[in-house]
Amino acid sequence: MQGMFSWILVAAFLRLLPLAATAQTTSKATTAKGAASKTTDAEGHQWWQHAVFYEIYPRSFADSNNDGIGDLKGITSKLDYLKDLGVDAIWISPCFPSPQVDFGYDVSDYENIDPMYGTLADFDNLASEAKKRGIHIILDFVVNHSSDQHKWFLDSKSSRTSEHRDWYVWRDGKGPGQPPNNWTSIFGGSAWTLDATTNQYYYHFFYPQQPDLNWRNPKVKDAMYDVARWWFKRGASGFRLDAVDTLFEDPNLHDDPILPGKNAFGDPIEEYKYNSKLPEVHDVLRGLRKVTDEYNGVLIGETWTVDIKELNKYYGEGNNELQLPMDFLFTTVNKLSPADFRKQIAAVDSASGWPTFVISNHDIVRSYDRYGDGLHNDQIAKLMAGLYLTLRGTPLMYYGEEIGMKTTPPTRKEDVKDPIGRIGWPTEKGRDGERTPMQWDESENGGFSKTAPWLPVPATAKTYNVADESKDPESVLNFYKKLLQLRHTNRALLDGKYVPLNENDQNVVTYLRSYKDQAVVVSLNMSGAEQKVNLELSKHGFSSAKSLLATGKSAAAGDVVTLEPYGVFIGQLSK
Ligand code: GLC
Ligand code: CA
Repeated sequence: MQGMFSWILVAAFLRLLPLAATAQTTSKATTAKGAASKTTDAEGHQWWQHAVFYEIYPRSFADSNNDGIGDLKGITSKLDYLKDLGVDAIWISPCFPSPQVDFGYDVSDYENIDPMYGTLADFDNLASEAKKRGIHIILDFVVNHSSDQHKWFLDSKSSRTSEHRDWYVWRDGKGPGQPPNNWTSIFGGSAWTLDATTNQYYYHFFYPQQPDLNWRNPKVKDAMYDVARWWFKRGASGFRLDAVDTLFEDPNLHDDPILPGKNAFGDPIEEYKYNSKLPEVHDVLRGLRKVTDEYNGVLIGETWTVDIKELNKYYGEGNNELQLPMDFLFTTVNKLSPADFRKQIAAVDSASGWPTFVISNHDIVRSYDRYGDGLHNDQIAKLMAGLYLTLRGTPLMYYGEEIGMKTTPPTRKEDVKDPIGRIGWPTEKGRDGERTPMQWDESENGGFSKTAPWLPVPATAKTYNVADESKDPESVLNFYKKLLQLRHTNRALLDGKYVPLNENDQNVVTYLRSYKDQAVVVSLNMSGAEQKVNLELSKHGFSSAKSLLATGKSAAAGDVVTLEPYGVFIGQLSK
């Protein structure tokens, strides 16, 4: 489990993150083109506030043509599974034409589908089948950079006077063999690459094959807004915006301050002061939000904020930027610490926009291992679901989390697929471990493909898979299903206020979700010993708690909830 949290660590250094530190009612009403209608509930909620989002890494979800790589038809074939699970929106990581240097995060054509994933017709079919089931499609919009094979960049690098020259960030070196300044790429080495044709350097915050677009050029902005419109018209309901923090760079190219130490790539650690989170980012987001509002869509942001003040900036004044800036702050609580979670939840709950909760994604170690102790991982997986799926806000799941998929990093450098794992080996093993194929059944390759998949399927697929877990009432999968169903139908869980209880308890996190005259209590035992919690119900105007969902023998009697180790109790309070 070496290299754990590596992405978070990188991100932490990058942004100086302190390490200590009812869809049913609205999603039916969709317009002809697939974007949701303006319908909200009586209280003015938007469709995305009651929806459960689910991230699909398309290479790894389902392989329909047995070439070892997942594809769009594969996703379409699993829509019934997703519907049954309780998913209302799927965010598909980039499926556009790409040389796949960064597995799709290097886009060479924003308005097409990569042949390895299918065709535009496959996308249209996926969109219409999803719509039939009330599932929204969110695409991954890689706004910071394109591929170096995109026609814009090919033209840009062809001459200093080409039409697209100023669509990317070109500068002279400081001197012979010297890049324009000290900025380093988050993926290792200088952030500048010399292009021999025109003898200038271009800027890339990520791999050299991912040149940064120049958002100061209005033509870039217009072209990218048009890309958004193009997909909205084709049936997308919104976008997850990749790497928004780094859209702009200081035009004067000030050197970044150097911090003590070296990163996994052997580079000095820099405070990305002059090339991350520049105020200009917000102009772009406001513009994109206007486009999004034309289609009643949603914008989710990959926003690595250090505190709530920064998170609030991404919601924008009067909520005119991102509806769902991802709250990675939550993922920085890497141990089962009631105090840390309480603090984080209270902070997010006080933010100026609707909260978003994420515990796993394709860049970070899966929550199953991050919180698991190696012995009670299944109980802990349910505990974490019990936490983030009962909070006020929109949860963003990661495929496989619902069956207890674990992180399986490569053990040999020659097996590594993610380039950062090769550059940074063995300190940084890359992100392959959290991207292994979805485990559908106990057959070979986990039922993902009939061919050896692009990444190996972990041996645990024999027991942790959709088919087997569907039959086991005590499985992680069935817990997720019950919980998601509850969340969709229980008004207090959807809209209730977050009211923390027993805030000094060192082992158990307890809170109410209180809505008008009703309330649901959630009690989560973060310890390996049985715990008892006194709810003092009369103080809150209630007399008893009736179990809605609980793990094992966890139960309430009068004011007292008894929780088994890592147990969860969710109960409806009555007067
Ligand atoms: C985002 C993506 C990550 C990708 C990077 C560069 O952080 O989540 O997977 O490598 O952007 O596009
Ligand atoms: Ca395939």
